[in-house]
Amino acid sequence: MEAIRDIPYELAPEGLRRDIAVLMHQVWPEVSPLPDDAAIPNPHEEGWKVQSFYVYADGQLASYAGIVQKQITHRGAVFNIAGLSCVATDPAYRGRSLGHQTVAAATRWLERQPDVDFGIFTCHPSLAEFYDRAGGWRAVPDVLLIGSEEDGALTSDSLPVVVLQRLFSEKAKALGSQLRHTTINLDVPVGQFL
Ligand SMILES: CC(C)(COP(=O)(O)OP(=O)(O)OC[C@H]1O[C@@H](n2cnc3c(N)ncnc32)[C@H](O)[C@@H]1OP(=O)(O)O)[C@@H](O)C(=O)NCCC(=O)NCCS
Repeated sequence: MEAIRDIPYELAPEGLRRDIAVLMHQVWPEVSPLPDDAAIPNPHEEGWKVQSFYVYADGQLASYAGIVQKQITHRGAVFNIAGLSCVATDPAYRGRSLGHQTVAAATRWLERQPDVDFGIFTCHPSLAEFYDRAGGWRAVPDVLLIGSEEDGALTSDSLPVVVLQRLFSEKAKALGSQLRHTTINLDVPVGQFL
């Protein structure tokens, strides 16, 4: 078993990007096309800074998690936010703690980033405990996360998800009360979400 490794997605070698796309297709076939000779599909949305966390087992990409980052404005204050995205383990390798280790490594990396104010993303309610145990991510039922205010934007109250949040920077902690009992707008194109 190899250790969890990480690299900015944009610097990932072609073989790794191909393996990530194959894993995404295996886990989410409806929305993740297989790579072909012409292109390797990027599972992450345009416009986000992405750090990729991954582990190989038996020469296979066994588990993956992306950390995506962007800037938002909330109640007049600018925040650098980050979230976990495309978290997946190859079905043949599930239940061996690889997902836990990958999410834990990604969260530890986030804790060390001096410019990240807070983390926020959504997951199916059944996985809230998994993220809490792996990375101390807490469900915040009083926070509504919205893709944008556009018609058709994805929102946490229109999906079967819970919002998970962790405050990292001193600024986010000082303004913490503004980040609860509130609506947080990701300001992303319609169809994108976290
Ligand atoms: C979620 C996922 C990444 C976990 O990967 P994994 O490598 O099997 O994780 P671990 O072995 O570290 O398991 C961690 C724990 O989460 C639990 N768990 C995993 N999937 C679960 C689910 N869908 N519902 C409830 N609990 C789940 C496991 O039972 C395990 O608990 P245990 O340690 O008490 O047995 C994997 O199941 C997967 O790829 N699922 C499909 C994609 C997905 O839903 N991704 C998350 C998007 S937010």
